[in-house]
Amino acid sequence: MRVILAQPRGFCAGVVRAIAIVERAIEKYGPGVHVRHEIVHNRRVVEELERRGAIFVEELDQVPPGAVTVFSAHGVARQVEAEARARGLDVLDATCPLVSKVHNEGRRYAAQGRAVILIGHAGHPEVIGTLGQIDGEVHLVADAQDVERLPLPRSRPVAYVTQTTLSVDDTRATIEAIRARFDDVVGPDTRDICYATQNRQQAVRALARQCDVLLVVGAANSSNSNRLREIGAEQGVPCHLIPDASALRPEWVAGARTVGITAGASAPESLVQELVEALGRIAPVEAVSTLEGVVENVHFRLPAALEPRAAEAA
Ligand code: F3S
Repeated sequence: MRVILAQPRGFCAGVVRAIAIVERAIEKYGPGVHVRHEIVHNRRVVEELERRGAIFVEELDQVPPGAVTVFSAHGVARQVEAEARARGLDVLDATCPLVSKVHNEGRRYAAQGRAVILIGHAGHPEVIGTLGQIDGEVHLVADAQDVERLPLPRSRPVAYVTQTTLSVDDTRATIEAIRARFDDVVGPDTRDICYATQNRQQAVRALARQCDVLLVVGAANSSNSNRLREIGAEQGVPCHLIPDASALRPEWVAGARTVGITAGASAPESLVQELVEALGRIAPVEAVSTLEGVVENVHFRLPAALEPRAAEAA
């Protein structure tokens, strides 16, 4: 069996920053830093941070007044920010800057008097946060059918923004439906879909052409990981989303000569390496190679309170 790894795969700059925020916060303030929601959608990451002293909660009423509290990379609604202020929490915001960019766009369009259409998946924390960051009229759609059902006249000026981790192709089809349905439409094309999502989707498409089976390492609730699995499957290759090596089923790779592996933006590389080892226990692995692809060089700054210089001065 040969194993080919996608390039790029795994952690994006927003996830690296979010994890670093929790780690630095624990270093600075000690164990007991609270984190609202999974900091990123990956159990391994969450458990490692819990081991270091982070406490994960789903809602702010589980946080003691005054505690240091981190908002997850997915972002939060304004109501959550207000609740944190009301409870006197010391907030560190790990919202990915590319999610914040979408919040800003949505607010700007709403301030222009446009009805904002958010393209995204209902119930995902990023979508809940973005809906709650836009004052004014905002509608959520998942696809072109939802666009048809919008209770708005053709003449209503609209703007669209998107979740950052959607399928580029599906989103383009939904944007076309919005442009066909309304006369006055503005929006950022598919540019709200972040660089990491776009690069991983491009890489998985190239990888699918070279393998008999595709394994996507990522959590079931990870949006970008689910899109990678869908895109792999669209290429006609059996494709499985797998949280870690313990979930690998030998029958998935039985008879496969080439197994492709990629990982969602919140999946650590250790999970990929453990999966390669697990494959080797099923059948001898002759070679592990990495497909040529985009080399990412994106880094986001930490909040000023956690920058090393700020820590030294404190
Ligand atoms: Fe940010 Fe995209 Fe990662 S929005 S958290 S860079 S998947």
